[in-house]
Amino acid sequence: MALADCRIVGFPKIHDPRGNLTFVEGGNHVDYDIKRVYYIYDVPGGAERGGHAHKQTCEMLIAMSGSFDVVLNDGQVEQRFHLNRSHYGLYVPPMTWRHLENFSSGSVCMVLASHRYTEEDYYRAYEDFEAALEVQAAAPAAHRGLPHAA
Ligand code: TYD
Repeated sequence: MALADCRIVGFPKIHDPRGNLTFVEGGNHVDYDIKRVYYIYDVPGGAERGGHAHKQTCEMLIAMSGSFDVVLNDGQVEQRFHLNRSHYGLYVPPMTWRHLENFSSGSVCMVLASHRYTEEDYYRAYEDFEAALEVQAAAPAAHRGLPHAA
């Protein structure tokens, strides 16, 4: 997956004088079924999270409260996203290295994941991630789900 596949997604926002409401539907606002929801909170000042890539899992990251930066890297290009609105999410496809930093005090990062947790799905060392990208790039197009050349 290339960094071009990562994107900010806007969710519906129902404005109401009693307070706003946003909803996110699996198979609609995220194009996969949501198998797992987790959230990161109580992050101490200066701490970083992430620092890994997933082999299969797609994720949607949402700043439910406060703000933080998500730094994505596809092995070629690095891009930083600042999340600070709960009606926007950042879609992160598999094979994308990420780390999260600059958490504001009281911030909450909620993640909607396409797969349940398994440690087998992680690259936790950047060198392993890079090596896997090289293997993918060297694989015949058919193995990468690309159309055959005529
Ligand atoms: P990790 O994914 O490394 O967190 P982060 O990306 O924020 O740095 O997970 C931290 C620990 O929590 C690790 O021991 C695995 C465990 N964990 C679960 O048991 N279930 C989960 O759904 C997640 C995301 C993590």
